[in-house]
This record gives sequence, structure tokens and C-alpha cells, in this order.
Amino acid sequence: MSENRVNEFEKMKNILIINGPNLNLLGVREKNIYGSISFENYLKSLISSNPKINIEYFQSNIEGEIINKLHESGFTFDGIILNAAAYTHTSIAISDAVKAIKTPVIEVHISNIFARENYRHVSYLGANCIGSISGFGLDSYKIALKALEDYLKL
Ligand code: DQA
Repeated sequence: MSENRVNEFEKMKNILIINGPNLNLLGVREKNIYGSISFENYLKSLISSNPKINIEYFQSNIEGEIINKLHESGFTFDGIILNAAAYTHTSIAISDAVKAIKTPVIEVHISNIFARENYRHVSYLGANCIGSISGFGLDSYKIALKALEDYLKL
């Protein structure tokens, strides 16, 4: 490998996207709110338009699995993009996990949670994240990735 390639490789950042409950149904579920594209398809385009970033993906409908993933990745990954879905509004445990790890986390929502039901206006996660992005459709993830890039000064 040439020296340039080695430097390029060393600079490559590892970003993990974590999606919470029901987000496995993107493209099928409430299309008027969440759109008609599956996350897998969106992820393909996100990966191909960001060749210098290693993007990994994890989805779970189970609170404890999300916490375990945060513990497992939160000391080695450079950044985490977290859409905890409905757990955003209920889970002190996920919020504590975000606080407990070293990796910076950005909170993401596809819909604008502040323009929806009152119970969605509260986020237990926000205070422990470096920032929150809400309301830009699936491009909330793209915006979060850009924000993380700048934060990490890739
Ligand atoms: C969501 C918003 C949450 O209120 C909701 O429970 C979700 C998805 C979003 O991405 O817009 O499942 O996190």
C-alpha cells in the first residue's frame, strides 16, 4: 500500500447508525410521515456518497439490545447517529447509556417531532447528545453525518 493510501486508511472514521423500534418498517409504515424508501436502500446511497467513511448499521426493536450496542460500540467508534424512535420519549435507560459512553452521539428523527403529538416533544436523549436533527425526512441522517464529520474534523 502506498503511503498516501495508508494515510487515507488511517483517517477513515467509523460511524455507527442505530435505529430503534419500528424503523425496520421504513418504506412500509406510515408513508405519509416516514416516506416510501426502505432504510436499507437509503443506507446504500449514504454509503456510496460517503466513500471515506466506514458506516455501519444496527436496528433493534428491543430497548436492551440498543443499550448493549451503545456499550459495545461507544468506546471504539468515532461517532454514533441514533434514532431511538419511540424510546426517545420514554427511555431513561438509553439516555443513561448515551451519557455513559465516550463516543459522541447525534440524535436523529425523520419527522419533525416538535410538530407532532405533545408526547413526542420530549426527548430523554437530547441532553446527552452533541446535537439533535429532526424533520428532514431520511436526509436527517445525511445531515447528521455531515455534522459528525465537522465535529470530528475528518
Ligand atoms: C421518529 C419519531 C418518533 O416519535 C417515533 O416514535 C418514531 C420515529 C422519527 O424518526 O421521526 O418511531 O424517531
